[in-house]
Amino acid sequence: MQAGWHSLLRRGGKILRLSASLVVPSARAGTTPVRARQMALSAAPALRSFSTPATPDLIRTLPGLARASQGQNTLKVWWRNGEPDEFPYIWLRDNCQCPACFLDTASSRVSRVTDLSHDVRPKEVYVSEDGASLRLVWEDGHEGTYTASWLHERAFNTTQQGVHENFYKLRPELWDADMAQRIPRASFDELMEDDAALLKLLECMEVLGFTVVSGARHEEGELHRLSERVSYLVPSHYGTTFTVKSKVEPSNPAYTGKYLDLHSDLVFLHYKPCVQLLHCITQFSGDGGDSILADSHRVALQMRELYPQKFRFLTDVLVNFRDVATDEGFEFDIIARKPMISMTPDGEIKTVNISTTGRDSHFGVSPKDAVGWYDAYLTYCDLLYRPENHFLYKLEAGEILIVDNLRILHGRTGYRAYEGQRHVQGGYWDWDMMRSRRRVLQKKLRESPSGV
Ligand code: OGA
Ligand code: ZN
Ligand code: ZN
Repeated sequence: MQAGWHSLLRRGGKILRLSASLVVPSARAGTTPVRARQMALSAAPALRSFSTPATPDLIRTLPGLARASQGQNTLKVWWRNGEPDEFPYIWLRDNCQCPACFLDTASSRVSRVTDLSHDVRPKEVYVSEDGASLRLVWEDGHEGTYTASWLHERAFNTTQQGVHENFYKLRPELWDADMAQRIPRASFDELMEDDAALLKLLECMEVLGFTVVSGARHEEGELHRLSERVSYLVPSHYGTTFTVKSKVEPSNPAYTGKYLDLHSDLVFLHYKPCVQLLHCITQFSGDGGDSILADSHRVALQMRELYPQKFRFLTDVLVNFRDVATDEGFEFDIIARKPMISMTPDGEIKTVNISTTGRDSHFGVSPKDAVGWYDAYLTYCDLLYRPENHFLYKLEAGEILIVDNLRILHGRTGYRAYEGQRHVQGGYWDWDMMRSRRRVLQKKLRESPSGV
C-alpha cells in the first residue's frame, strides 16, 4: 500500500409511515441477537422478497389533447378522456421545448433566465387536430410546441406526480428480524451478465436496503469488477477499497477481532458514504465473525411513536463524530458534527448516525442535556437490540454483503483473531449512481424487455 496523500484513495426512501404493525410489544426484551436460519435462507427465492413491483408502471395510456382554454396564470387543458389539467404559463415558457430553448442531446434547458418574466402569457393557443400536440405563440412572438405525452407525464396532478416520485425513488419496505427468513440474494455471475438481474438488485437495495451476493471469487478485486456494473467506488481516507483483517497497530476497531456494535460506517465524514460493500474472502471457521443487521429507520419510527420527546433529543442534539489515527502512513483527524437521527425537510428519517467507535468524547452541550441525550440514545439502542429488530447472518467466503449505509446498520460478532485469518474486503457505492443505473435499466428493459 502507498503512503502519504495517495492514502486518500484508500479505505475509506420515501419512508413508510409508521403503521400499526410497527408498534413494538411493551414487554422488555433481552439483547441476544437472533441467528438467521441457514436452512430457510437456501430456500429463499433470489431478490423476490419485497412487495414493491419490480418495475413501476412507467407505461401509461396517453389520452391525447381535446382542447385548451386560457385562465389568468394557467392554461387549462382537457384530455380526450374528459380529465382536465392546469399548466402555469411561466412553467410552460420556462420549459419551452423549441431548439433555441432546449438542447435535446443534453436534455437541458438552454434558455436564459433573464428572458423569463413573471407575467409571461401566450397570445395564441393551438391544439393539433389529432390531439397529439399543443402549440403556443407567446406575446413576444416566440413559439413552442409540446407533445401531449410530454405534457401528460408532467401534469400537475398527484397521480402523475406520484408516478414520477416512484421513478425518482422506490418506496422502502421497512423490516424486522423476520427478514432473516427471506434474505434477498443475487448471483455475482448473473449480475455481471444480466441487466434484469442487476435491475432487481438495485430495486432491492432501494426497497429492502441490503442484499447478499454469492459466487464471487475468494480473492480481492471482486468489488472493483462488480462496481463496473453499478457505481464508482467512493474513496475515503481508508482507500478506494479496504482490507478488514486483524492487523498489528490497527487504525480502526474493525481491524481487530472485537465485537462491533451495530453501526453506520464513516459517520465522522460529512459526506458519509451511501452504500457499503463487504466481500467475505475468508470467514472465521469457529464461533464469531457473524454480521449483524438492523433497519435503523424502522427503529427510529418506533422511537418516534413510543417516546416522542426522547426522539427529539436524537434529532436535535448535535453529536461529535471523530476519526483520529494513522492508516498505512496517512495521518488524519476527521470531525463531523451531526444529530444521531437526521431528518429530511419534510419530516422523514434521512439517516441514523450511530457508531460506538466513531462517536467522540467531546460533547458541546450542558451536562443536563448530555444526560438527557444518553437517556434517549440508550432507549434507541434498547429498541435496536430487541430480538425482533435485528438478526445475525454469517457470510460465507465468496459472499458480498451490500447494505444501504444511510438506513441499514451492520455489526460483527467478535472472533478469536489469533486463530486463523478472517479476511473481508470493503468498499462504498454512491446512491446517485445506483439510482441512476436503476432508472437507465428500467427504461432500457421497458423498451426491450429481453435486454437485447
Ligand atoms: C467494517 C465492518 C464488518 C466485518 O469494516 O466497517 O463493519 O464483518 N466490518 O468485519
Ligand atoms: Zn423556445
Ligand atoms: Zn462497518
